[in-house]
Amino acid sequence: KTRVAVLISGSGTNMASLIAAGQAADAPYEVVVVVSNVADVAGLDKARAAGVEALAVEHKAFGKDREAHERAIDALLAERKVEVIALAGYMRLLTPWLVRKWAGRMVNIHPSLLPLYPGLNTHARAIEAGDLEAGCTVHIVTEGVDEGPVLGQTRVPILPDDDAETLSERVKAAEHRLYPQTLAAFVAR
Ligand code: GAR
Repeated sequence: KTRVAVLISGSGTNMASLIAAGQAADAPYEVVVVVSNVADVAGLDKARAAGVEALAVEHKAFGKDREAHERAIDALLAERKVEVIALAGYMRLLTPWLVRKWAGRMVNIHPSLLPLYPGLNTHARAIEAGDLEAGCTVHIVTEGVDEGPVLGQTRVPILPDDDAETLSERVKAAEHRLYPQTLAAFVAR
């Protein structure tokens, strides 16, 4: 199985779906470690409960040196022979150093139908624009934020009474199906 690290910053619901799918006997990947840039987040507890090593590498400890923070993470991944990184709600911009080092081996999930709405507050922006559909995208990470080649996408309707919260729940449910499927196809490519 391809050895995957999941990087998170918070609740880790996508991470949990990646771990669960990777634990199936016939899965082509397994999540071997979860790293959060924030300590004490729920996602770390979820990973441990699923039997996966979970580490906090706090960006705060590295001050303004973003690359030093990423080098610390990268060293941990090397020790664990990680082959692919899956970003799942990892809310830090990456340096070109990490992106280049993992070029073609790092994927991300984003809560919009890219190229629509890169960046933050995607659901509020889709509702504000009067869109009838929203969704989620899994893509390869490149240096442009939320710009890399698309590997998979799921569309969901935007309903008349939606706010960012209700739309987020519908998109999250779609994310939890899309990400494991797309990652499995990616590592088996
Ligand atoms: C997910 O909706 C993911 O698409 C989004 O953060 C959420 C994390 O939720 N990612 C981004 O916005 C990346 N810029 P989770 O921690 O419950 O998986």
